[in-house]
Amino acid sequence: MVMSAAGDAPITRRRVAILISGRGSNMTALIAGARAPGYPAEIALVLASRADAGGLALAEAAGIPVATVASSAFKGDRAGFEQAMQAVLDAHAIELVALAGFMRILTPGFVAAWQGRMLNIHPSLLPAFPGLDTHARAIAGGAKLHGCTVHLVSPGVDEGPILAQVAVPVLAGDTEASLAARVLEQEHRIYPAALAWVAAGRRTPPEAEGALANPLPRDDWLPKSR
Ligand code: GAR
Repeated sequence: MVMSAAGDAPITRRRVAILISGRGSNMTALIAGARAPGYPAEIALVLASRADAGGLALAEAAGIPVATVASSAFKGDRAGFEQAMQAVLDAHAIELVALAGFMRILTPGFVAAWQGRMLNIHPSLLPAFPGLDTHARAIAGGAKLHGCTVHLVSPGVDEGPILAQVAVPVLAGDTEASLAARVLEQEHRIYPAALAWVAAGRRTPPEAEGALANPLPRDDWLPKSR
């Protein structure tokens, strides 16, 4: 528990696990964001689906507990993979999950267990371009606006109630890399804002300059109070 601004009620920080599969730049942004005074969540765990995920070393260097449940050890057994992850999440008393470049498809059962308590960031303006290679597909499709989305996770891949989006222009001469970099900069801004919003159980959207946000969808998508 931490104290908020003078005179306000103390803030209870919700325990968040960040799930990663790769380099972890969004993870790093969430860790940095959660260090802000009064932030309503603490990053209590970084859980990787691969032992070689670059983000693991960054999380360790930041003093965050880390764990790996290697999906490669559960070939064809998604339920077993998720049971192993759930055991780690339980051991760390995790309340909210933030997927940040977590590249495994989750079963409906695992998603249902975390309904309203699991967020994802995706590098496109959903529902456009779910899945992989979003920047290349946006350029190839002639899109003039592209961007990123934070959403609550539902069983479909890159689906679920949209919390916040930022649009960026697709510029003449953009390459996949230049467009990805412009989008990633915005991912790092909106993900900490959206996580704070959900962790605080607020119905109204966060204030993040230039971001567009929906009200939270329904009561049953809100994290259950403790
Ligand atoms: C990010 O661009 C994230 O939006 C994307 O993977 C990248 C991970 O980078 N996620 C997805 O495509 C999920 N469908 P990071 O490891 O540096 O955060």
